[in-house]
Amino acid sequence: MKTQINGITIAYSDRGTGLPIVFLHAFPLTRTMWAPQEEGLCSQFRIITIDLRGHGESDAPLWRYTLEQTADDVNALLDQLSIQQAIFVGLSMGGYILFAFYRKYAARVKGVILADTRAQADTAEGKDGRFQMAQTAYKKGPSAIADIMMPKLLSPATIQTRTALVQQVRAMIEDNQISGIAGDLMAMAERLDSIPLLKQITCPTQIIVGELDQATPPSDSRLMADQIPNARLAIIPNAAHLANLEQPEAFNHIVATFASELAPKKHS
Ligand code: MLT
Repeated sequence: MKTQINGITIAYSDRGTGLPIVFLHAFPLTRTMWAPQEEGLCSQFRIITIDLRGHGESDAPLWRYTLEQTADDVNALLDQLSIQQAIFVGLSMGGYILFAFYRKYAARVKGVILADTRAQADTAEGKDGRFQMAQTAYKKGPSAIADIMMPKLLSPATIQTRTALVQQVRAMIEDNQISGIAGDLMAMAERLDSIPLLKQITCPTQIIVGELDQATPPSDSRLMADQIPNARLAIIPNAAHLANLEQPEAFNHIVATFASELAPKKHS
């Protein structure tokens, strides 16, 4: 489905009924990375997946991207869908957006799932890397970005043995426009340090990380789990950064358990 939000077209999917769960995807992917979650969870919950601005079937304007603006897009979409409160799942960049969303719209957040992400801002070196990658996107296009990103997203075993999944992730990256890729990099480089926010996250929180994640390693998740009051941490074996795609059953089980505890109880 497509809608107009904050002056651009935003594409999203809305499947199932019950407690809404909103999924925010990673860089530089699209909402299709959540296909196993949509498929596995839509019989129990209302699953909303969004092509964030700059991605997939949504518009990718040239200028200018901030995580706060993406949070505003998500908030406006929830208004349009008449959803007051939801559980939010943010993976990696989706997690950074979730922090920005929580700063502005905490009342809308019933529960938070932070997957394969981190609260720290970029270091100076990290920011330089962003600008270099934006230059690469500009000069060589999305397939050069796929070459750089694939080993960061999936484990070596997955890259060697799961050809269909590797092709699917590569296609998602190649589906994005250069303006969106560069825009994300700009937005991530400028993002705030969310460490001071962690102690203020008062809603139920689940943290998930693939044990082999090198982009946002388990130590980053432990740091969040230590600082967010009452947060739970689950480490998924045999998964790297895209734990939801490499181990969808384990990932879905954690999400479903967490969300079931927050869903209104049905009375017979
Ligand atoms: C992501 O998966 O969203 C990115 O690896 C995040 C980042 O580059 O910091």
